[in-house]
Amino acid sequence: MIKILFVCTGNICRSPLAEGILREKLSRNDVTAHIDSCGFESFHVGDPPDIRAQKVALERGIDISLHRARLFTIRDFERFDYIYAMDSSHFNKIIGMARNETDKSKVDYMLNVLYPGQNRSVIDPWYHDLKAFDDVYRQLDEACELVVKKIIADFQLK
Ligand code: 4NP
Repeated sequence: MIKILFVCTGNICRSPLAEGILREKLSRNDVTAHIDSCGFESFHVGDPPDIRAQKVALERGIDISLHRARLFTIRDFERFDYIYAMDSSHFNKIIGMARNETDKSKVDYMLNVLYPGQNRSVIDPWYHDLKAFDDVYRQLDEACELVVKKIIADFQLK
């Protein structure tokens, strides 16, 4: 089974949104996968996603309310095939914890699927308004569309 992990700071906005969006797209494509998300700051560990993230997802029929925030751990390198970081702080922390080249090869910036090699960040919407969450949703939706294509190609699923 394909295993994909999204990583952000608090694990209550960007990465749970990406998780919910990709899960929905893969199930629509009949692709079985294990998808999860996590973060690097402990402030919200055990919490459900931010209410604004829940709202913009639910408006598109995606329920992310059952997710609970957790921290990235070194075991995640064994548990996942692809690890997508939302910005450079997460990317650098994950790479800093990598034990070998195999671990490193699993890690990329989320937006590099849309803008290869540009290492662009998904802006943190937490300090902003609902529109920022909507913008993040649309950006992640676009990126996840390409992640689905990449998975289908990499795993020769269709
Ligand atoms: P996220 O947003 O990384 O997209 O989940 C944040 C949520 C909470 C905090 C920072 C970013 N915080 O500092 O509590």
